Amino acid sequence: MAAVDRFDFLFRELGKTLTAYNEVLALFGALYVAKKTVTTVLGIHDAIKVHLAARVRKNQHFVNCFGPWAVVTGSTDGIGRAYAQELASHGVNIILISRSMEKLKKVAKDIESTFGVKTFVIKADFSKGSEIYDVISQQIKDKEIGILVNNVGVYDYPQYFVDVSMDRLWQLININIAAATMMTHLVLPQMVERGKGAIVNMSSNTALHPTPQMTVYAATKTYLDYFSRSLQYEYKDHGITVQSLLPSYVATRMTEYTDGSPALLIPSAGVYARHAVSTLGVTSRTTGYWPHTLQLWVSTMLPEWFWMWGSSRLNSAIRRKAQLTLQQREAKLREKLPRLPDLSGISPGTDNTV
Ligand SMILES: NC(=O)c1ccc[n+]([C@@H]2O[C@H](COP(=O)([O-])OP(=O)(O)OC[C@H]3O[C@@H](n4cnc5c(N)ncnc54)[C@H](OP(=O)(O)O)[C@@H]3O)[C@@H](O)[C@H]2O)c1
Repeated sequence: MAAVDRFDFLFRELGKTLTAYNEVLALFGALYVAKKTVTTVLGIHDAIKVHLAARVRKNQHFVNCFGPWAVVTGSTDGIGRAYAQELASHGVNIILISRSMEKLKKVAKDIESTFGVKTFVIKADFSKGSEIYDVISQQIKDKEIGILVNNVGVYDYPQYFVDVSMDRLWQLININIAAATMMTHLVLPQMVERGKGAIVNMSSNTALHPTPQMTVYAATKTYLDYFSRSLQYEYKDHGITVQSLLPSYVATRMTEYTDGSPALLIPSAGVYARHAVSTLGVTSRTTGYWPHTLQLWVSTMLPEWFWMWGSSRLNSAIRRKAQLTLQQREAKLREKLPRLPDLSGISPGTDNTV
């Protein structure tokens, strides 16, 4: 009986101590729930401000806010061309930069005749590295540039790292990282001098997690996102807006292997650009398109191992499809070539006259 009394006493004492622990745990729980609630409410508020209020407002005066000219890199196709057209529809003159003079002239003519703004074209290949920037600098020096859109970027299809050639790796670095860095270095001083300007960097939602089989591309996009966020902090007191755009899939030439015909989650470049431009001056970091913001919200809740596993499986399927498409294209091309004589029986060192 005495033993039972002692146990009873022990349980009562333990119960008192555990109540104190429970209260501490309950406090932590309440703080966690409060933090999550505040973050969610702020997130919803931001999403409404960025994606709804900005589009309803529709009275952006980009020329007054930032300046009369915009430079758009990689502007003869896809998102770059659509973004240039959208800015032109707001009365901004456009400097287009890409590799093909023929395509540049065509896009420039189309923009001038549709929107009645001025255009200027510069033929440059960003894969060439440092040699092109003096030329670009000379050509833009007399223009008052209010907006710089660092859009140019390349990506082929998912591949394992060692299957990407060294040449292609240099191109990825020069086009996806160096171009935005150097173009910003060329244009930012004149913006700071005037106390206004906007720089838009085209990152990607792949910047948010390491993505197997898109290893280098995703890493270059993370660079752009970090570059934008630090730059925004450094220059916000100089009247400069720096925006990081993190879209998910957009139906362009770049995503041709994904079966990405336009849909709600995979908008056309035109739809994407219309939404993205409406967020300029409203926020410094966004997907630019509300369905992509929902997608991003879900993806940031996933544990990293799950993202890696899921994206790796998806990328393996896309890689197989891309390789098959490339093989079929090559075979068709061979069929079209004139038949060459069969030289298989001829060995080096003999008289090879046929
Ligand atoms: N599409 C998507 O799903 C998606 C998603 C997230 C982020 N992004 C990013 O958005 C940007 C635009 O992508 P996009 O899908 O619109 O690409 P795209 O349709 O392939 O267009 C790329 C543009 O860049 C130009 N370009 C390519 N290589 C160049 C070089 N070496 N020098 C100069 N210009 C060059 C191309 O013109 P020329 O070939 O005539 O030179 C073209 O105008 C990229 O930074 C990409 O990473 C795209």
